[in-house]
Amino acid sequence: MSRRDHLTRLAGAAPAVLPSLLQCDFGNLQREVQRLEEAGVIGLHLDVMDGTFVPNLSYGMPIVAALRRLTKLTLDVHLMIVQPQRYLRAFQEAGADILTVHVEACEQPGDVLEQIRELGLGAGLAFNPATPIDAVEPYVSKCDLVLAMSVPAGFGGQPFDPNTPDRIAALRRLVPADTLLEVDGGLNADTIPRCATAGAQLFVVGSAIFRQPDYGKAVREFSQAAKLLIKH
Ligand code: DX5
Ligand code: ZN
Repeated sequence: MSRRDHLTRLAGAAPAVLPSLLQCDFGNLQREVQRLEEAGVIGLHLDVMDGTFVPNLSYGMPIVAALRRLTKLTLDVHLMIVQPQRYLRAFQEAGADILTVHVEACEQPGDVLEQIRELGLGAGLAFNPATPIDAVEPYVSKCDLVLAMSVPAGFGGQPFDPNTPDRIAALRRLVPADTLLEVDGGLNADTIPRCATAGAQLFVVGSAIFRQPDYGKAVREFSQAAKLLIKH
């Protein structure tokens, strides 16, 4: 599928839950992917960490490539690495469909986003809770997706930052209507509706899915939560 096809698939399925595989059983990826496909997800969120941009290490291209061999689901790759431009082509060759880089990790975020699109991939820009929205504003026209972190990037299982819905609402007013808004970190049945109401479309969920034995039940519960709009 082309960049456009993946973006259309995500936009068409929104609001949608994307499982973050950080806490899956890496000893049995095939089974994990099968369980998530059966749960009805449209894509997988893959967290790449370098131990420098964030104080944690996860995995890189070989795992993305292994997942690519296992599934046709959209692979949404979240790069928490310094100077991500060094590895864009490698992740494209591994089979990524969307590449999201952190604004805090790029000297020239606009150039990096352009390079991602030139590789034929969806271009995403992420920013941490401590980073003002002004930092992403100059680049939104080059983004297919903007990722508002609701925890500081680096670890699964952290508590949701309560300022996130306001940040998402501000972002929604700022970005073009066809730019996807994704939120990542500390999401569950309580925090998802707050982000959905603010305008988030894609919900990355890690521990709240992988802590449960029945992924299908968890994905259904969170997909329903993403359709709940809170009245003020
Ligand atoms: C954090 C990652 C997230 C995280 C989500 O740096 O980007 O994708 O693993 O996990 P939970 O849902 O446990 O916060
Ligand atoms: Zn992530």
